[in-house]
Amino acid sequence: MSLATPTRSVTVRVPAKVNLDLRVGPLRDDGFHDLATVFMAVGLYDEVTVTKSATWSVQTTGPYADLVPDTADNLALKAARLLDRRLRYRQGPVHIRIDKAIPVAGGMAGGSADAAAALVACDALWGMRAEREHLDIIGAAIGSDVPFALHGGIAMGSGRGEHITPVLARGTYHWVFALSSEGLSTPAVYAECDRLRGGEQVPTPEASPALMSALRSGDATALGAALHNDLQEPALSLRPDLAEVLSAGLEYGALGGVVSGSGPTIAFLTGSAEHALDLCVALTASGVAPQVTRARGPVLGAHLIAGPTRE
Ligand code: C5P
Repeated sequence: MSLATPTRSVTVRVPAKVNLDLRVGPLRDDGFHDLATVFMAVGLYDEVTVTKSATWSVQTTGPYADLVPDTADNLALKAARLLDRRLRYRQGPVHIRIDKAIPVAGGMAGGSADAAAALVACDALWGMRAEREHLDIIGAAIGSDVPFALHGGIAMGSGRGEHITPVLARGTYHWVFALSSEGLSTPAVYAECDRLRGGEQVPTPEASPALMSALRSGDATALGAALHNDLQEPALSLRPDLAEVLSAGLEYGALGGVVSGSGPTIAFLTGSAEHALDLCVALTASGVAPQVTRARGPVLGAHLIAGPTRE
């Protein structure tokens, strides 16, 4: 009788994010911009499963599968391999399966989310129980939004977005997202931001006190009015068609609307689950935003939903 080593696998669920406030500071020498941003994790999830394997590999399923690389460029694969290299005794390789529901290149940190999920999944698969700070450091080397995807909830991001501080907030918020069939490149949007600024002096970025106060009191109307994103103007400059989507959502009664991160997804805040459903119907029927989805936030960051199990 042969005693084959059982295959073990772990599945992690990870949310998308929306930036409630995103203030872009000056361009730094390393090519990044200093930021002050307030993130909220929203209930639109990717699921990442890692399984011990003979080689490193990654496969994506779901509506966006064709847009995600299955090569060494895949952020989940990069994160898993970096974590493995940091170990004294190597534990890899693994096969990674990404069940993708977060739009690709949509300004919702889908790639960073997958990297965060791969870190949490490999940590559990390999029995490391790493300190969260350790995963944050490895995650930040992969992408600026990875530490927030690990953290979840509502948090302030500073530095290039990778330094996370929790924000005092109450309430559940109901969002509608108008998706775009074509993504926007994050570096291109930052470059457009610099171009539009034309070398003018930019102050040190700071999150808006009105927004922080709306979150503290759980006031959705005040939060809707305080949504802000410095990358909105550059994103609209590259994709003028998005302006029509924004005004349609506001016309149909959203409490506020903002380009999510570097776009092109547009996030609309509504007052209730029913209001969110009505807005989805109105936007779809109008034809301006044929692809819409709903989610609530805040939700947990990357977390285990299955495993380690034997397959
Ligand atoms: O770290 P991340 O993968 O999110 O960054 C992608 C690109 O976005 C960077 O290479 C940079 O061009 C731009 N970026 C930036 N300033 C930030 C974050 C990202 O210029 N704070």
